[in-house]
Order: sequence, then C-alpha cells, then structure tokens
Amino acid sequence: MADPPRHLLAIEGLQPPPITALLDLAESYVLLNRSGQTARDLLRGRTLINLFFEDSTRTRTSFELAGKRLGADVINMAVASSSVNKGETLLDTAATLNAMHCDLLVVRHNQSGAPNLLAQKVDAAVINAGDGTHEHPTQALLDALTIRRRTGRIAGLVVAICGDIVHSRVARSNIHLLTTLGARVRVVGPPTLIPAAIERLGVAVFHDMAEGLAGADVVMMLRLQRERMIGGLVPSAREYFRFWGLDAAKLAKAAPAAIVMHPGPMNRGIEIDSLVADDPARSVIREQVEMGVAVRMAVLDTLARARPKLRND
Ligand code: NCD
Repeated sequence: MADPPRHLLAIEGLQPPPITALLDLAESYVLLNRSGQTARDLLRGRTLINLFFEDSTRTRTSFELAGKRLGADVINMAVASSSVNKGETLLDTAATLNAMHCDLLVVRHNQSGAPNLLAQKVDAAVINAGDGTHEHPTQALLDALTIRRRTGRIAGLVVAICGDIVHSRVARSNIHLLTTLGARVRVVGPPTLIPAAIERLGVAVFHDMAEGLAGADVVMMLRLQRERMIGGLVPSAREYFRFWGLDAAKLAKAAPAAIVMHPGPMNRGIEIDSLVADDPARSVIREQVEMGVAVRMAVLDTLARARPKLRND
C-alpha cells in the first residue's frame, strides 16, 4: 500500500481511492455533527494553526470548528497582506511555525504555489485552503460530498461549472476531482473568463448558458472574482447577469431535478438570482457549508493519523 499523503496541497494527482476514503470518513462526521457529539480524543494534544493571508469566512471558520470538534488546540494567525517579498515572508513564517511545533497548518495565500513552498519548509502537515488561482482542495471535497449525498453518485453525472473559471481555484479543484471520479464536466462562460486550452483537463467548453446547462444534473455557479481581474473582462454587472447569471429561466434548461451549488461568497444579482439561491428544492448552498465542516474534520483526522504526535498532553 502507498504511504498515506503527508499534506493536502491539491486534488490534481490524487487517485479515486484516497478521495473516496476522505468522503466516506467525512460522511461519518456529518452524522457525528448532527448528533451534537464531538470526538475530542482524536486530535487531543495536536496543534492546528490557521494561517490566512487572504480573506475568508466559511473556510477559516470551518477549519477552526473542525479542529475544535476533534479536540485540537486551534490558533488563528491573521496575517495582513503585505507587499514585502512574498518568498521571504513565507520562509520567515515557516521558521516561526516550526519553532512552535505545530502539527497541522492550514494555509490560504493569494499566490499560487505558496502552500507547496511552505510544505517543503515546515514539519507540520500542510493543508491548502486556497492558493491564488491554483487549487482549493477541501472545497472540491465538500462539493463532491454534497453532490454524492444528494444524487447518490458522481460517476456519469453531467456537471456544469459556470462563470468566472479563469480566476477560480474552486473550478480547478472541482474539475480534477469530478473528472477523476468519472463525472462529465462542462465549463460554461464568456471566452474572456475561460482559460485557453482548458479542454486538456478533460472538460467540454460552452460559451452559451442554454447550451451549457442543457440536461445538466449539477449547476455550479462561481463568484465573479473582480479582485483578481486586471482590466475589464466583463462589460457590466447588469449585462453579466443577463447572459451568465443563473435565474429560473436558465435553470429550466438543466435536468428537472438538477441541484444548484455556489462555494460562496455569493454576488446576488450578478452570477445568481436570489430566488434560485434560496430555493430549498434546488439549492444545496447551505448544505455545502455543513459538509465543509465534516470534510475538514476528515482531512485533519487523516493527516494527523499519518504523522507522529509531537507532544504528549
Ligand atoms: C472561494 C475561494 O476563496 O476560493 N470561497 C470559498 O472558499 N468558499 C470562492 C470565492 O472566493 O469566490
């Protein structure tokens, strides 16, 4: 058997068995969370540091909750974005963290590859909580868990990922995970927001919502990430909504039981209409948040088990 992974830096390169194992373990944590119980013995004596160089609500809070429910000591380091040479800052930070004997390090950074660099320099298991436009592996895992619980499978489903693909680490991690587990993935959006040659990742490209959504089982909307845009890639918010925003009329093109997803934070009225986002019959957006805690518990538990305990308290 292969060695268990030391870090979770990306979905790309993972085979189906470790992905499915994480989803299965997360399933048990959904039940635990719903029962109001905790499993504080599992990570007792372990230290988890949340190191966020970029804003976050759901991801940081859910890692914090996940760590606490498993009994870890959780520290949140709020790091203001700095214009200092990023490499140097990160290496200094790595030295500091090593001195603190931290077991699990959750990192979000606006530079793609920053968690990989840290993983080479720290003793802790590193979990990528979103790096630049590269990957956001726990988001893809929680999305897969949500889909699997709602539809009973992943293989064979048609999943349409729509909107700002080019800036989205969520899209990249989801494309890798969903194609690895046998879903048929489409990316749908204007040419300015779809990376060149993305077909190489095994997806079909659509530049029209009606065509891209036709018969889809899952409609995953993405936030228009204006903070990452250089220059105007979209005409105006109003026009964007008209062509690319998900409303009931566009959703009617998808399969009759299609579910609607969004990683949050949502720009209501830009990429998604409130009536669709809040429709309990179609939207699984709140469930995604719930699955986020369970998936992060599974990731922390798996990575902690694979490494020796640093302290004995
Ligand atoms: C995403 C992110 O930060 O990549 N948010 C999240 O983690 N739920 C998506 C986004 O910011 O649009």
